[in-house]
Amino acid sequence: MIGYAITGSYCTHSRSIEALKRLRDSGADIIPIVSENVFFTDTRFGKASETVEKIEEICARSCVHTITEAEKFGPAQPLDALIIAPCTGNTLAKLASGITDTAVTMSAKAHLRCNRPLLIALASNDAMAANLGNIGTLLNRKNIYFAPMHQDEPLKKPHSLVADFECLGEAYEKMLSGMQLRPLFL
Ligand SMILES: Cc1cc2nc3c(=O)[nH]c(=O)nc-3n(C[C@H](O)[C@H](O)[C@H](O)COP(=O)(O)O)c2cc1C
Repeated sequence: MIGYAITGSYCTHSRSIEALKRLRDSGADIIPIVSENVFFTDTRFGKASETVEKIEEICARSCVHTITEAEKFGPAQPLDALIIAPCTGNTLAKLASGITDTAVTMSAKAHLRCNRPLLIALASNDAMAANLGNIGTLLNRKNIYFAPMHQDEPLKKPHSLVADFECLGEAYEKMLSGMQLRPLFL
């Protein structure tokens, strides 16, 4: 059983949902997790309820969206692996700093407590500014892996990095063998 967590990088949700379908089609049994912001916030990229409905249909399960539900991913109900895709700059910074105040950061904390692997697919406009140090911190942390990423619009968004959702499955397979998929920067 794996956890697939989605945070509030709304513009990448459609790519994440496609990656989620591919994982499901490859036979993975998936518990979906969404941050409170994803669960409750409508944006110009879509209605929260419609996003949640799509995710639940793919996984055939309700989305975990509270800290209380996510706490069970510790010793009570450990996951084999956890994927956060997309991971916002906000969630990345919290993971690096040990802050646990959302369903997704609670899932990660509970999961890492059991020494299980976590894959992060980052999507953030401040990845190479306020969050650059946090990428380095997490790259050096045990059981944490990153999906390969690239500068999506180097001139218009000079500090932005976005994971390549096409290689999420490959990064996940590598992670299960204890390896980071490389190159990390595409
Ligand atoms: C329309 C919209 C798009 C956003 N896109 C991103 C994004 O791509 N990456 C990011 O790090 N934050 C993005 N944000 C900001 C996050 O949603 C915000 O930091 C939020 O607190 C994230 O909460 P979460 O990490 O718990 O989901 C966006 C916000 C809005 C309203």
